[in-house]
Amino acid sequence: MCGIVGAVAKRNITPILLQGLKRLEYRGYDSCGVALHVDGMLQRSRSTARVAELEAQVEKSGLSGFTGIAHTRWATHGAPASHNAHPHFSRERIALVHNGIIENHDELRAELKAAGYEFESQTDTEVIAHLVDQMYTGDLFETVQQAVKRLHGAYAIAVFCRDEPHRVVGARQGSPLIVGVGDGENFLASDAMALAGITDQIIYLEEGDVVDLQLQRCWIVDSDGKPADRPVRTVHAHSGAAELGPYRHYMQKEIFEQPRAIGDTLEGVTGIMPELFGDKAYDIFKKIDSVLILACGTSYYAGLTAKYWLESIAQIPVNVEIASEYRYRDSVPNPKALVVTISQSGETADTLAALKHARSMDMTNTLTICNVATSAMVRECALAYITRAGVEVGVASTKAFTTQLAALFLLTLTLAQVRGRLSEEQEATCLKAMRHLPVAISSVLALEPQIIAWAEEFARKENALFLGRGMHYPIALEGALKLKEISYIHAEAYPAGELKHGPLALVTEEMPVVTVAPNDALIEKLKSNMQEVRARGGQLYVFADADSKIASSEGLHVIRMPEHYGKLSPILHVIPLQLLAYHTALARGTDVDKPRNLAKSVTVE
Ligand code: M6R
Repeated sequence: MCGIVGAVAKRNITPILLQGLKRLEYRGYDSCGVALHVDGMLQRSRSTARVAELEAQVEKSGLSGFTGIAHTRWATHGAPASHNAHPHFSRERIALVHNGIIENHDELRAELKAAGYEFESQTDTEVIAHLVDQMYTGDLFETVQQAVKRLHGAYAIAVFCRDEPHRVVGARQGSPLIVGVGDGENFLASDAMALAGITDQIIYLEEGDVVDLQLQRCWIVDSDGKPADRPVRTVHAHSGAAELGPYRHYMQKEIFEQPRAIGDTLEGVTGIMPELFGDKAYDIFKKIDSVLILACGTSYYAGLTAKYWLESIAQIPVNVEIASEYRYRDSVPNPKALVVTISQSGETADTLAALKHARSMDMTNTLTICNVATSAMVRECALAYITRAGVEVGVASTKAFTTQLAALFLLTLTLAQVRGRLSEEQEATCLKAMRHLPVAISSVLALEPQIIAWAEEFARKENALFLGRGMHYPIALEGALKLKEISYIHAEAYPAGELKHGPLALVTEEMPVVTVAPNDALIEKLKSNMQEVRARGGQLYVFADADSKIASSEGLHVIRMPEHYGKLSPILHVIPLQLLAYHTALARGTDVDKPRNLAKSVTVE
């Protein structure tokens, strides 16, 4: 989603701004732009193509300067077009970029139009630029503090003014923004990765903060205008543009990194102990009576899988809620619940808002399973388990999902132990199985050639069904999400027992039906559901364990999974579904790492 970079320095900052944008590309965008203070004037360059094109454009025009801002835009208000791309100017005096959504933009636009401002875009951002200009007092920092009070909604902004050449002002509310502190120069960005190699001294702005950046000054005030002392942290951010190595896409690379990612996530787990989740974990785990999981997208499916584990192993009641629904729903608060947020980025606006909503109802036992240690989610939760998937660049989540599952299984065992439901023998068996996961995943990855053959068939389809039962139903959901988001094939997932209650009507010879078929307690039931599909001519594509006793026949294609993995089987069964989606998308020629309309980090509602 939108990315911001800003800088004030005594050297030409154009390469820093463009490099920063490249590092934010993974978040997803459809246009980009940069504005600089040049000889007492504002100058900008914008593009609806990639940052590389913007860079060529900037090079050609010779645009350079010491103070400026840059942006990658993911369209919300107004189509992806040059005139809607940021930075937006107001009366050639104010330049501004924005991430988020201003809910009262219509009302402000009407007011500003009445005051004589002309709009050249459909964006809510241009409204903020004109508002800052209208309220400008000669002191940009002071003006922005007043202007943001008029905004309803979510924003991270970076702004500079023609009349104050060595100053950039930033503000945040509901969207992430960080400050990079340099030596006689200062920076702003959406995340620390944008500044990798420039500075590792990072300040995480808090909700309502406004920051004044000058060459020798980095001054922050809170929403009440009081000086705010925010710690400077040393953050060793890796560049998101990690080397692709032998892979064609980041998604493929990230699928193949899963043995390492799971190994790293579980590294140091020598036994089951609450402290793995934080110092206060034992006290919190001891007093809870249920679990409430809040998440979006793939992370939500990780939560759904964990419900099966938590209820059967730890015997604790679990609710899993889609964060964007929960935050607005009237629900019955339970202060004794453990609220678990799951998020790769730790910056997903809906999940953060759902967490805040839960806390506002006295649910303060909070834990996050998150891949970014420095994210808002980790800062806002009492407890955290950091998955160590490493930077995930592909929009489609893969290694983040399996590492979330590994962490959630660990949480399950820990709660089971605290609740007296885990014997030493069970603990040892489970730990052994978890340690074996990297090897087991590697043997599933070796199935790639067989999956490529299936993908060629799938590439010609426009619809697909995914079936699973029990804890493999969320895996079917995740498989369908992967296929639709990167190959644009319409895909639906159902618990196989639901087929006859409606979706069976869709089944014809044209319908591929992917079935997740581990040899678990539900295998015979699943086989009956498969018969229902075959009887209607549906083509079955089944991922079955050796012991599932399902053999290929007419209309029934089987890929044999290397081993049955008991309770941890969802972690293995999702991998062929990721590969199937990847190779189908590849065969259809889509933009695998940056699928249309999607963003990596969803920082708006
Ligand atoms: O960063 P998060 O885990 O909070 O993101 C949640 C979803 O936006 C994310 O999982 C999304 O569904 C992925 N594109 C799925 O591949």
